[in-house]
Amino acid sequence: MSKIELLPKSLPKAIRWEENQLYLLDQTRLPQEAVYERQENERQVWQSIKDLKVRGAPAIGIAAAYGLCAAMAKHKSLGPAEYLETLDRIADYLDSSRPTAVNLRWAMQRMKTTAKSAADQNVENVHAALIEEAEKIHAEDIELCLGMARNGLPLITSGMGILTHCNAGSLATSELGTATAPMYLAHQQGIPFRVYADETRPLLQGARLTAWELQQAGIDITLITDNMAAHLMSEGLIDMVITGTDRVAANGDVANKIGTHGVAILAKHFRIPFYVACPSSTIDLDTATGADIPIEERDPSEVTSLGGVTTAPDGIKVRNPAFDVTPHNLLSGLITEKGLITGNYTEKLKSMFGS
Ligand code: MRU
Repeated sequence: MSKIELLPKSLPKAIRWEENQLYLLDQTRLPQEAVYERQENERQVWQSIKDLKVRGAPAIGIAAAYGLCAAMAKHKSLGPAEYLETLDRIADYLDSSRPTAVNLRWAMQRMKTTAKSAADQNVENVHAALIEEAEKIHAEDIELCLGMARNGLPLITSGMGILTHCNAGSLATSELGTATAPMYLAHQQGIPFRVYADETRPLLQGARLTAWELQQAGIDITLITDNMAAHLMSEGLIDMVITGTDRVAANGDVANKIGTHGVAILAKHFRIPFYVACPSSTIDLDTATGADIPIEERDPSEVTSLGGVTTAPDGIKVRNPAFDVTPHNLLSGLITEKGLITGNYTEKLKSMFGS
């Protein structure tokens, strides 16, 4: 089975690395227009991640890895020690763009380790090893998504309704997405099912991105506003929830887009299974519980306006946490590339993903 065939050709990739140049699809302009921006330096890459031009946990890790390569190309005339010092500094800088998704730190750590352990510390060789590592991170993500597709597939049965939140799709990863991976595979296998996408205020990743990509794939997709989920559940339209995640703590608590925790509580109330799809790159065994996950607080203007139009009084106090934490006791399971994990999260995550 070719993974490429699972996605429509019309769907643009979030990240392109061509002739040692990084191109990012500006997702803030979707679905109106698909425009790629070439990333010229580390400041631009940092800003593209911060502004959600590239977003979604796996995608920001991949983008930062390539972004580091693009930035370091300008420093190849340095001596080996200065090159490595500069690389550490730029990697830490890119890592500082967003705090919640662990993929960013994970990717930067891999890049630093690769550079330091390149057997021959000739700068040209270290730089080539860096590019190879970024390409490896990208290629591995394609396989991780495919693994989640296979392990989540048995959960999708004929005629069911699936609710998802935010965009944990192709646009958030290398190819198949995390939460959407089993959906793309089920669709290819001819299993009929319906998907409901929460619009996901304040930045509408569900409406602009998930609804758009699943519609292009020909999947039966219905868009709802976030406050409609309970009503649809009460009508018996939702049989399962699948979301992605930005970080899974060692005890199985998961951080994901703001609003996910509320959906999980609703699912518990209506006795609807609630699954989270997570690749190993998103599992952080160094973070003990969800309480230890840093939650990004974003600009108030994202809450006080919509599409450039002000929707709240001047000077109003605002909170804008971009993520929340769903405690592991609300999960029915974690869909990983190594299998479906249900219960005993601490033990199973450690035995399956510990070093
Ligand atoms: O702020 P965003 O758009 O980067 O948030 C993305 C999410 O919350 C996704 O659900 C998560 O990164 C999983 S993506 C496969």
